[in-house]
Amino acid sequence: MNPRSLFCATLVCSLALIATQCATRPGPTDIPHLQKRGAATQLIVDGKPFLALAGELNNDSATSIEYVNRLWPKLVHAKINTVLAGVSWNQIERQEGKFDFSVLDGVIQGARSNHLRLALLWFASWKNGLSSYPPDWVKRDFERFPRAQTQTGKTLELLTPLSDANRDADARAFRSLMRHVRETDGRQHTVIMIQVENEVGMPGDSRDRSPVANRAFAGPVPKELMDYLQLHKDTLIPEFRQVWEAAGFKTSGTWEEVFGKGMAADDVFMAWNYARYVGRVVEAGKAEYPLPMFVNAALIRSFTIADEAKMAQTPPRSFNAGGPMDDLMDVWRAGAPRLDMLSPDAYGNFAEYCARYTRSGNPLFIPESLNMAVGAARVLYAFGRHDAIGFSAMGAVERSNTPDTDLIGSYDVLAQLAPLILEHQGNGTMSAVLLGPDDPPQRVRVGNYTLEAAFMKPRVAPLTQPTPIPPNTFASAIFIATGLDEYYVAGSGVILTFSPNTPGPPLAGLATVEEGSFTNGRWVPGRLMAGDSTEEGESIRLPWAPGSWVPVYRQRASADAIQRVTLYRYQ
Ligand code: DGJ
Repeated sequence: MNPRSLFCATLVCSLALIATQCATRPGPTDIPHLQKRGAATQLIVDGKPFLALAGELNNDSATSIEYVNRLWPKLVHAKINTVLAGVSWNQIERQEGKFDFSVLDGVIQGARSNHLRLALLWFASWKNGLSSYPPDWVKRDFERFPRAQTQTGKTLELLTPLSDANRDADARAFRSLMRHVRETDGRQHTVIMIQVENEVGMPGDSRDRSPVANRAFAGPVPKELMDYLQLHKDTLIPEFRQVWEAAGFKTSGTWEEVFGKGMAADDVFMAWNYARYVGRVVEAGKAEYPLPMFVNAALIRSFTIADEAKMAQTPPRSFNAGGPMDDLMDVWRAGAPRLDMLSPDAYGNFAEYCARYTRSGNPLFIPESLNMAVGAARVLYAFGRHDAIGFSAMGAVERSNTPDTDLIGSYDVLAQLAPLILEHQGNGTMSAVLLGPDDPPQRVRVGNYTLEAAFMKPRVAPLTQPTPIPPNTFASAIFIATGLDEYYVAGSGVILTFSPNTPGPPLAGLATVEEGSFTNGRWVPGRLMAGDSTEEGESIRLPWAPGSWVPVYRQRASADAIQRVTLYRYQ
């Protein structure tokens, strides 16, 4: 073959290859992605909005195919549709530059054949603040991959976020992981989200005191961060803005000059360096496969960054300096602009952290929270009140020997209501309450009526003692206005009353109340409720299981835990 035709032939082949590559590389909206809908952000999977009813596996459950294969049936039984599973750096890159995805492939295959989605948790440079997941060749070479140090000069088992070598090695591995996920799952979308690192933040001191860190801390605050703060000056998270304001809103200077002398400056300094590092890892991964990516936050610091006094009293060991706390959201956004969400591991103060992590337009995804009755109550609240993308119970099917009927019941109710919830997220026609026994009734305006929701105290037979309320008992309800005078409500332990909030006859009455369920999105009415069931027409009752304080699902699963309510007006 003469050189000219040889050249043409090669050219044609490589063009064909690129074309197929382009053909095989799915577009950004074909793959799972986030999309604004009114005031809400939704996760779109296979072109449709998706509610993640999730459970997180124990840290190392997905490092063995035999082990994880025993869990799939339990996860399916638990009505979970998304599994949070760890994939660790030391698992995929035992030797530098050599990648082995065989276990991950087994996990993806297992989930796929059980019709489950996956959110992969990249356990790499940091896990709960420390570095137990980097491969041995990183751990052993602490010259090349330096560690953070405390004020006392103690070296921690923690890769410093101020090392480019640490960052680049992590980013390279993560890039390979995301390329592999695209190549093996880019069309099936079993993997729908990625958590990058796990609960980063420095324990043991308010900032890294290694030589590289001390030099950076003594230097100027990077222009990138100052530019971001000035650009967003009016919309910064108030507590953070307060710290900057207290030091005079300087637009340049050292960390202490700009953020004041104290632990707030340390925390901001660490947040910037963690965010820059994680931001690079995210960019490397998204260059291959831009799935939605989030970081999860250990909510160790309950007070805000502006509370210098409390900061100063905090013993160093209970610090997680620089972690993605809500009041450091601006710093994390400036440092990691391609990160999609900061997500709270909300074990305590659930309602408060849902509110704090939905500020400044941050979409709400709860990677870790409690299961059982508390989880069953919380999940309704996260979706109904805060338009959550997903809720996940930590160790969902591995931390008790018996099925968690409470959470299963709640997940089943939400799976039934999912089409309605996704239709009403972000447009003010849906809400929810989460009530403890001592909480006063809450009034919530939804649609044409204001709902008053109260914690239900079970009826007590005369001359009998009421059953004491166990601690950590929560009632919750979700309500969706599907018409001018129509609502679907669900939950347990709540009494609901309605009052009109539009002109017309001042009183609202219960017209028809049906208990029932949804089958394939179609309402299937069961009992027609009145009399005792509605306090003679006074209120909607979403009961506890009889004679107890546990969710109704424990007694009747989720059957009939939903009510369709139509109202009428009179005077
Ligand atoms: C929070 C971490 O993110 C999880 O991985 C796990 O370590 C839990 N704490 C405790 O089990």
